Amino acid sequence: MASTCPYALLSFFFFVFIISFLSDAKSPDRQVRFSSTIKSPRLRAEKLIRDLNLFPEQDINMGSDDESLVETPAIVEKQFSFYLLGDPGASVQDLGHHAGYYRLPHTKAARMFYFFFESRNNKNDPVVIWLTGGPGCSSELALFYENGPFQLTSNLSLVWNEYGWDKASNLIYVDQPTGTGFSYTADATDIRHNETGVSNDLYDFLQAFFKEHPQFAKNDFYITGESYAGHYIPAFASRVHQGNKNKEGLHINLKGFAIGNGLTNPSIQYQAYTDYALENKLIQKSDYDRINIKIPDCEQAITDCGNDGEACENAFYVCTSIFSEVMNVAGNINYYDIRKQCEGSLCYDFSNMEDFLNLKTVRDALGVGNRGFVSCSSEVYDAMVRDWMKNLEAGIPALLEDGINVLIYAGDQDLICNWLGNSRWVHVMNWSGQKEFGAASTVPFVSDGKEAGQLKSHGPLSFLKVYKAGHMVPMDQPKAALQMLTSWMHGKLAVTSSTYNVESTL
Ligand SMILES: *[C@@H]1O[C@H](CO)[C@@H](O)[C@H](O)[C@H]1NC(C)=O
Ligand SMILES: *[C@@H]1O[C@H](CO)[C@@H](O)[C@H](O)[C@H]1NC(C)=O
Ligand SMILES: *[C@@H]1O[C@H](CO)[C@@H](O)[C@H](O)[C@H]1NC(C)=O
Repeated sequence: MASTCPYALLSFFFFVFIISFLSDAKSPDRQVRFSSTIKSPRLRAEKLIRDLNLFPEQDINMGSDDESLVETPAIVEKQFSFYLLGDPGASVQDLGHHAGYYRLPHTKAARMFYFFFESRNNKNDPVVIWLTGGPGCSSELALFYENGPFQLTSNLSLVWNEYGWDKASNLIYVDQPTGTGFSYTADATDIRHNETGVSNDLYDFLQAFFKEHPQFAKNDFYITGESYAGHYIPAFASRVHQGNKNKEGLHINLKGFAIGNGLTNPSIQYQAYTDYALENKLIQKSDYDRINIKIPDCEQAITDCGNDGEACENAFYVCTSIFSEVMNVAGNINYYDIRKQCEGSLCYDFSNMEDFLNLKTVRDALGVGNRGFVSCSSEVYDAMVRDWMKNLEAGIPALLEDGINVLIYAGDQDLICNWLGNSRWVHVMNWSGQKEFGAASTVPFVSDGKEAGQLKSHGPLSFLKVYKAGHMVPMDQPKAALQMLTSWMHGKLAVTSSTYNVESTL
């Protein structure tokens, strides 16, 4: 979810902490106190999950295993086909649609669930993995509502998504960290608390995946995702790069990573809330001045975080109060898309996904047995609270220096992981091309003959602001998002954009 970008659970999504801070917000000069009287991150996560109209029956996917893990092969995968509407001709069986479980080796009893969709275009297309945020939301949210091969209709049937990312890639979605979606464990010590645990599990999965599918191991490989994945992705990319350098296991052909509306550098991004909100008239100058008084405390708390777990938890409370205060003024807007209001308690309605994945026919097709589906896990969210304020930008310069391509993109209507905060950290990031990046001109990003965003690039680094899109860019601008992915993977993002000759204002 979204809690990530502060609240990025769904990948996007972020959990918002609004409720807990309501009373404090009304008394501006009262110091917000962070004590046990504040509602737990878990309660905040629960509110966030309800905002999405999701009602997972369990807070986390745990339970005894139905098979002996020792005797189970590392990967159990099956091909599946769903009944599809408007099938354009190719039989679904012709397409490589796979779902499976991977037994995570560095755990007591955890299995990671994944979908794998072979490219509708060409099996030599790059392999792309997608990670939804939260932390604790299933990547199936993206599969069915953003960039997957098909979308859900109101009567729970499926239609092809003309702009699915499987039109340009061999596409993997994983449910992670453990306890999210269909991924589960029978042992609570397998629950992850930081990016070391998360990235090691993902790396182990990738190794097993390419062993299972050796014909794809030579393809280019890209990591993508959204929201709290702004934390996962840099850690995962560094883990893969390090594995390659150390010649651990199979070489993984990592070419780049893309983060959409992510939370990556919290210190900078939490300071951008009031600026973004003022610019978009969500708050007034007097609110702006009042809320900004909290910024130095947030900065200090993040500095204190370092490697001290408790200090990191404190920073979470201190800094998220900035966001809560902005929301107290902004009212009922949808913080993933400021063009919209939340209706009743609902900001989005993703309930079809839960209903669909709980259908007996679907479960049989996927081979998940009676295993519960936890769309967003409040316990997984809660377990990551000390990871939240960590600065994941720190590992990116080393990857850029080694030629790994980095695309940071953001829909311009998202508040929670807004483009402004993302643009700022990208600009202040210290790497050998920093100056040139800063001096590069901003050019239009063109999709479908129209200006669909603004792009700035230098060498391996690109920043793209996407117009008329909220937190979930592929949901709001599916065609532009597919074009972005395709052009970027082919090294043509900057080329395509700069040849389009319009006057740019920025
Ligand atoms: C489900 O909805 C789609 C349109 O969204 C319609 O074409 C289809 O016939 C419906 N299927 C059933 C079984 O009602
Ligand atoms: C990450 O969490 C694990 C426990 O899940 C802990 O053993 C390890 O020390 C942590 N690593 C870092 C870098 O915080
Ligand atoms: C930027 O990084 C370089 C190389 O790591 C380092 O020598 C330099 O001090 C850094 N500059 C700033 C302003 O942090």
